[in-house]
Amino acid sequence: MPIINSLAEYADDIAHWRRDLHRNPELLYDLERTAGIVAEKLREFGCDEVVEGIGRTGVVGVVKGREEGETVIGLRADMDALPIQEETGKPWASEVPGRMHACGHDGHTAMLLGAARYLAQTRNFAGRAVLIFQPAEEGGAGARAMIEDGLMERFGIVEVYGMHNMPGLPVGQFGIRSGPLMAAADHFSIQIEGKGGHAAKPHQGVDPVLVGTEIVGALQSIVARNVDPLKNAVVSVTTFHAGDAFNVTPQRATLTGTVRTLEPGIRDLVERRMSEMIPAIGAAFGATARFTYKRNYPVTVNHAEQTEKAIEVARSVVGEKAVLTDNPPMMGGEDFSFMLEARPGAFIFVGNGDSAGLHHPAYDFNDSAIPYGASYWASLVERLMPA
Ligand code: NI
Repeated sequence: MPIINSLAEYADDIAHWRRDLHRNPELLYDLERTAGIVAEKLREFGCDEVVEGIGRTGVVGVVKGREEGETVIGLRADMDALPIQEETGKPWASEVPGRMHACGHDGHTAMLLGAARYLAQTRNFAGRAVLIFQPAEEGGAGARAMIEDGLMERFGIVEVYGMHNMPGLPVGQFGIRSGPLMAAADHFSIQIEGKGGHAAKPHQGVDPVLVGTEIVGALQSIVARNVDPLKNAVVSVTTFHAGDAFNVTPQRATLTGTVRTLEPGIRDLVERRMSEMIPAIGAAFGATARFTYKRNYPVTVNHAEQTEKAIEVARSVVGEKAVLTDNPPMMGGEDFSFMLEARPGAFIFVGNGDSAGLHHPAYDFNDSAIPYGASYWASLVERLMPA
């Protein structure tokens, strides 16, 4: 069973929905239009149940197979866009200044809608398919909000699957691996309190800019000298704010940044070393350096058994050679990780071809990936819950 023929026939419709979503991007939980369209289409397709407002603006559609079954599989798409000014020049470019679908969630939503229409028409499976459309993947932990709203229990979800498009992976290919696939994405902030004064009298003050630069330099030693060289970690200081005038030593400086790790032990190690180093460096210079660390998205860990199933299904769509089963882990974060902590499942990449990278102003979801992604979803339901 390669690409499902009727889904290939739907591909133009799905692309049309995708471009409409692309023109009208919405952010985080503010998905009134997007979630409204999703719910309306799910009803129009004849889903057995359509529930709105799960995790604030999340939408869930349920399709029952033609036979009863024990298994209930959750398929998840994300719906939110990003605060980026689009530079694609495409006819369907964003009509909202400063916002665009730069991560392809428009494509994810449209492909899952396409699969929903097919499944509701054919129902060639035994059990229930739960179609999950989540808000706020881009930093708002929408997956967690839906889980806290009872997503898994309410719909009896047994296994859960996610998909993301991947620039650089050819269209018609899938990439996946068992175990950690995407990183834990944490953020931190550092408040340095020095002693401001006249820049010509540095000896009378405590310069928070100097303290900050010492901290930025010292933090690099965590990855270079504390983390096992065969393991992975990223420690990046991404903002550094201090001072307003060339002739004034500022009173304080504020730094923020992100930490990415693939294993809980490494995550603990990095946080611990930062908490030891930062106040100590401040004290060494006569300043106070306060450190706060916020654990955000956990590591996205694919479960072994469900990864095997996902590989088998992806191979059924595109053939054995087109499924990369040892996709290298990536240091980006993904809040599907919360769903994989709640239920066994797997997250897969679908090739977006030679496009600009995710979160780039020239990025666009590749509509030629639609038949593959939508067929993967439909095949997952039919093969994992055979009638
Ligand atoms: Ni994304």
